[in-house]
Amino acid sequence: MQKIKKVALLTSGGDAPGMNAAIRAVVLAAHHYKIEIIGFKHGYNGLINQDFFILDHKQVHGLINQGGTLLKSARCKEFHHQDGLKQAANTLIKEKIDALIVIGGDGSFNGLLKLQQHWSGQVIGIPGTIDNDIDGTDHTIGFTTAVNTAIEAIDKIRDTADAFERVFIVELMGRHSGQITFNVGVACAAEQVLSFENFFVNTEKDRSARLNEIAEHIKKAQTTTQSSYIIVIAENLWRGGAHQLAIDLKQYTQTDCTACILGYIQRGGSPVAEDRILATKMGVAAIKALNDNKTGLMIAEQNNTITTVSLSTAIQHQKQVSQNLIDAQKNILAMSAQSSV
Ligand code: ADP
Ligand code: F6P
Ligand code: MG
Repeated sequence: MQKIKKVALLTSGGDAPGMNAAIRAVVLAAHHYKIEIIGFKHGYNGLINQDFFILDHKQVHGLINQGGTLLKSARCKEFHHQDGLKQAANTLIKEKIDALIVIGGDGSFNGLLKLQQHWSGQVIGIPGTIDNDIDGTDHTIGFTTAVNTAIEAIDKIRDTADAFERVFIVELMGRHSGQITFNVGVACAAEQVLSFENFFVNTEKDRSARLNEIAEHIKKAQTTTQSSYIIVIAENLWRGGAHQLAIDLKQYTQTDCTACILGYIQRGGSPVAEDRILATKMGVAAIKALNDNKTGLMIAEQNNTITTVSLSTAIQHQKQVSQNLIDAQKNILAMSAQSSV
């Protein structure tokens, strides 16, 4: 059986803490198997623009603790069109690449599957996104760090909110996924967690109904205790975002609400231990899978065991927020916040 010699590696979509740790693991594992790694820059743009360099094991020294990505990341519009996909495939053929590893999210894996229509090399995905929205893996690389970063920030907001007995609305990342919002909201004991899974605003009528419900909850809290009140809300859930929600709520509560968008700090920073370790296990597994002639797979971790799932299965459905967490928030935590005050 012909063994692979040359593997392309790129990072694509929203960068995530731990992508560098995954790059390091891929490069070191490849070095072990005497495979050459070619790093393509700026996501799929690097394939289209032939922007690449040889990634030597010496270059990954001191990388494991760094946020961002050595290979840079980007979105790539051309990849949505046949011409872009063909150009990328031509680069891989011209450079005699045997396999491609993509570290990215669901969008990046969609792109990888499309590329397979034009290129017959082996492909492997490593799930790297703070959104944790990929089915088939318990966690994506970067999620745990992003959650911890947001928790740390909101704990600080709680201090000033307590001091002023203020209502805060904190907007969290994930424009299609409530994983960060739900997990962070529960971990920060937010008085309200507003996310795609538990908060529906499809019509104007829904908007007023939801405003009434939140206003009632705030008012009850205010009449029985002098305390802070934190609402966490997912990006893209409320038209106009956290700032607009603060304005809208003021009309219903006559209380000033302070909006705070946590934003890109959630994507940066040194990865926490869990992400460094997950990224390392996944990077090594990706090279092992290629060395075993496997293709079309995403490396995953389920119940603390590294495994693989087909890329097409991984992107079929968005990973859902734990129903236990949703139920606990809805039936127990939110209610006790209301009745204990
Ligand atoms: P993520 O990988 O983090 O989910 P995106 O959804 O932005 O991030 O996807 C990253 C890139 O993957 C896009 O900019 C594009 O180049 C490529 N991509 C996403 N969806 C598709 C698709 N349906 N077809 C081809 N390429 C895609
Ligand atoms: O997919 C990662 C992510 O950070 C999402 O949480 C967020 O909605 C989006 O990317 C922001 O993307 P951009 O960098 O294009 O503003
Ligand atoms: Mg995505």
